[in-house]
Amino acid sequence: MDTPIVILNYKTYLESSGLKALELAHDLESAANESGITMVAVPQAADIFRISEETSLPIFAQHIDPISPGGHTGSNLINTLIDAGISGSLINHSEQRMKLADIDEVVKLCKENNIESCVCTNNIETSKAIATLSPDAVAVEPPELIGTGIPVSQAQPEVVEDTVKEVKAINKKVKVLCGAGITTGDDMKAAMDLGADGVLLASGIIKAESPKDALLDLVSKL
Ligand code: G3P
Repeated sequence: MDTPIVILNYKTYLESSGLKALELAHDLESAANESGITMVAVPQAADIFRISEETSLPIFAQHIDPISPGGHTGSNLINTLIDAGISGSLINHSEQRMKLADIDEVVKLCKENNIESCVCTNNIETSKAIATLSPDAVAVEPPELIGTGIPVSQAQPEVVEDTVKEVKAINKKVKVLCGAGITTGDDMKAAMDLGADGVLLASGIIKAESPKDALLDLVSKL
């Protein structure tokens, strides 16, 4: 995982679904090329293949189920997602919480399949617990700030700073990202100044009039 990194979670906004997901991927790709900063698209499962065919962006899944191939219905199987084009996945997003044992299983599945794992957490304590599983990254996001436009890096800097300190004390190799409300260049710079390796964000870019301009502003102070 190259850092600094910007991971854009498409969630299920209409502005980032279907054909619009592809348009957003083109914006992400040109912002990444112009800025030289690594940017990752995290579309819904149904949009992964199209984006992978049409761009050279790194793509993460929003969720992988802790299952093996066989008799499951309506699940996200890691093998199929890899065939579709992912090189990593979010795990345990606040909007898709998982049991600890299932998080452990999916982190292991990612390692076995050589793809990157970014486990989302809601506070410093859960970040410490997840660091012991040695994922590639932990992304701390206070749930109450998600989608509010109030940036965690400025509103709750201690959450970012202490998560970095505690996670690195457990395993230096685990990257620490932060998210919730991150929108502007100042928000991302504040995150990096607190020791984060990058940001995980959604609405500030997806809802912007020009997502590409918003992405370029996001990384303008690095
Ligand atoms: O996964 C990113 C996320 O939950 C933050 O959302 O809209 O506050 O950037 P948002």
